[in-house]
Amino acid sequence: MGRLFDFMLPENKSPLTADSTDWLFHFINEASLVIFLGVIFAMIYFAIRYRRKSEDDKTPLITHNNTLEITWSVIPLLLTFVVFGLGYSGWLNLKTVPNDAYEIQVTGFKWSWNINYENGAQTINEIHVPKGIPIKLVMTSSDVLHSFFVPEYRVKHDVLPNRYTYVWFQPEETGESQIFCTEYCGNSHSNMLAKVIVHEPEDFQTWLDENAGGPTGSPIEQGEQLVTLQGCQACHSVDGTEIIGPSFKGIWNRERKLADGNTIIVDENYIRESILYPGEKIAEGYQNVMSPYEGRINDEEITKIIEYLKTID
Ligand code: CUA
Repeated sequence: MGRLFDFMLPENKSPLTADSTDWLFHFINEASLVIFLGVIFAMIYFAIRYRRKSEDDKTPLITHNNTLEITWSVIPLLLTFVVFGLGYSGWLNLKTVPNDAYEIQVTGFKWSWNINYENGAQTINEIHVPKGIPIKLVMTSSDVLHSFFVPEYRVKHDVLPNRYTYVWFQPEETGESQIFCTEYCGNSHSNMLAKVIVHEPEDFQTWLDENAGGPTGSPIEQGEQLVTLQGCQACHSVDGTEIIGPSFKGIWNRERKLADGNTIIVDENYIRESILYPGEKIAEGYQNVMSPYEGRINDEEITKIIEYLKTID
């Protein structure tokens, strides 16, 4: 089973997408090792065999050797064809989503992943999937370029604003796999982490049913869930910790100094404006790095978030 360069690869948890990549990876490394050792040993052998043996040793004049030259050209040429052929067929496999794939919507934004399911369920930075069936992620970004990468599935694709891209995979065992953003997208790029959580099919269905329809409960409870789902906590703590943006703790109805020297009171209108157009009024001591939520959140949701923010003090 084990191959020489296995230590260089993470575990393979989606054989249908990962096997072709792994095979080619091993082939290139093993072929390189064989060629490397062949060159080294030939060099040592020739240095000993053909060394200058006496003062009047003369090097014979050899112009060329057709057989040898054709051999050392054709073999590497064939190797590059093999690498191209296998690489191309592996790429086609990654681009060809099985017809019965289960679709999940993924939206990248600074600096989290928002996940939407067919029945209205929503999660942030957690993609819940059943094992043993193909999963298709339809991906887009609501701000800048991101890139979706799951090393254990060997899938990676750019996630762009104003466009949809996709990846597919089929996890064969339950458990968790790490997701990375692999396109530099700003301050917290390296914290743009998420997980694929693989369930038994029955457990997945139960999870999906329990989370149908999105946030539930009183307006305050829904506001709290929205703050989580919208990824606000990547930059705003609720316990007073300073992260990238001001903490939500104790902001309601207090004075706030702005970067332009003015002072405002944190009320409904300020919060609404700061969600939809965060660049309008920057709090003193902070950067203008938040992406606008205009078009990503409606007034009803904003009202619930305000109700929740009032309760954090
Ligand atoms: Cu998103 Cu880097």
